[in-house]
Amino acid sequence: MSDVIEMTPYEALGGSVILRTLVDRFYDIMASDPRAAGIQAMHPQNTTLIREKLFEFLSGWLGGPQLFIEKYGHPRLRGRHMPFAIGESERDQWMLCMLQAMAEIEMTDELRSHLEEAFMKTADFMRNH
Ligand code: HEM
Repeated sequence: MSDVIEMTPYEALGGSVILRTLVDRFYDIMASDPRAAGIQAMHPQNTTLIREKLFEFLSGWLGGPQLFIEKYGHPRLRGRHMPFAIGESERDQWMLCMLQAMAEIEMTDELRSHLEEAFMKTADFMRNH
């Protein structure tokens, strides 16, 4: 069995420090790339709390510490997104920011394609519109 199979995606990515970088770049890109203006407008101007929440959620989602669940209970992620109209365009804007943030981080091709697929599946599941 290869190491990649034995490691969680959280470990393969590089743990909390790299995950924090990924989340910070994600929101920085959302704020600066005009192609993401639609979803940028849905988010609060002060992203301090939302950065922390996405970091905590992804930590558990990637197989690391379940920080979000410890603080807030079951994520009910789809329910929490219901107040926002999310269609294909919003999903694609979210993915654009995440793929760009990921592009700036070194990782194996295997981890990259795993994450792309997992993010796309989750982002598509958020569609409610
Ligand atoms: C598909 C497009 C998506 C859009 C447009 C979107 C948009 C948003 C918005 C507007 C918020 C609320 C910000 C606020 O507190 O005012 C939010 C919260 C959140 N989103 Fe998304 N999101 C999307 C996909 C995702 C995905 C794929 C994930 C995880 C992989 C995710 C994780 C979260 C988390 C953890 C929160 C915090 C929930 C809470 O407040 O408890 N989102 N999102």
